[in-house]
Order: sequence, then structure tokens, then C-alpha cells
Amino acid sequence: MSLLDRARAVRENAHAPYSGFKVGAAIRTPSGRVFTGVNVENAAYPEGTCAEAGAIAAMVAAGETAIAEIAVVGDAPAPVTPCGGCRQKIAEFAPPGTPVVMANLRGDVLREPIEALLPHAFAKAHMDGGRP
Ligand code: THU
Repeated sequence: MSLLDRARAVRENAHAPYSGFKVGAAIRTPSGRVFTGVNVENAAYPEGTCAEAGAIAAMVAAGETAIAEIAVVGDAPAPVTPCGGCRQKIAEFAPPGTPVVMANLRGDVLREPIEALLPHAFAKAHMDGGRP
């Protein structure tokens, strides 16, 4: 099963009764393991979490800290692109060149490296005083 298929499959488990917009995410790490996540909403709307954040949390909890590829999918007219906050969360663990695969349920797929989604990303190097 492709990484995108894993994201599609887990999407079914999203808890999105408020937006009605289910999102699934799947991360493959350099070790070959796959971690998945879904958006989890609650009655206090701003407190919901994105699918990408769930997948990242699962990866880190398992002791892994590198993203080799990430896939995101939702039922939308165009491929679902990660929100701004999730772009920063992905960039924390995804080196430049890491593919972000974005898709919808009707087969449209967009594939971009993380730096195309978050140019001039704020990074740890800024705080080190060095060049990013
Ligand atoms: N959402 C995600 O989980 N990931 C994205 O990339 C875009 C948006 C969720 C957040 C919220 O639960 C719902 O989609 C509508 O914004």
C-alpha cells in the first residue's frame, strides 16, 4: 500500500463532526516505518488538531525524528495542502527536498518539496546565530 493509500485509509477514522472535513496523513521515516494521523476536532473549535500533527506526534512518540515523505489527503476539489502551522511542524523534521504529497479523493495529486511550501522557514539555525 502506498503512503498516500495509508493516508486515505486512516482518514476514515478522523474525528471531524464540526467541520465535516476529514483529513488523513501518513509519514514514512528513513527506517521505512509509517506513522499515520487524522484530524481530531472537539466542541471548543480552535482546540482541534490537524492530521499532520497527529502523524508527527505518533512518529516522535515512537522515537523517530526524521520524515522521508509525508502524504496528506482530504475530500476536496483540489489536493489538500497543509495549513501554515503544519508546514512549520513538518519542516521541523523534514530536510529540504522531502516530498510532501497532497491529494484529494478524486485522484488529483500534487507533489512538492517541503521548502516549496514553506520558503524562508524559521529554523533552529536562526537561534544559533548561524545561517539557516
Ligand atoms: N485540517 C487538517 O487536518 N490538515 C490540513 O492540512 C488542513 C486542515 C483539518 C483541520 C480541521 O479539523 C479541518 O481540517 C477543517 O479545517
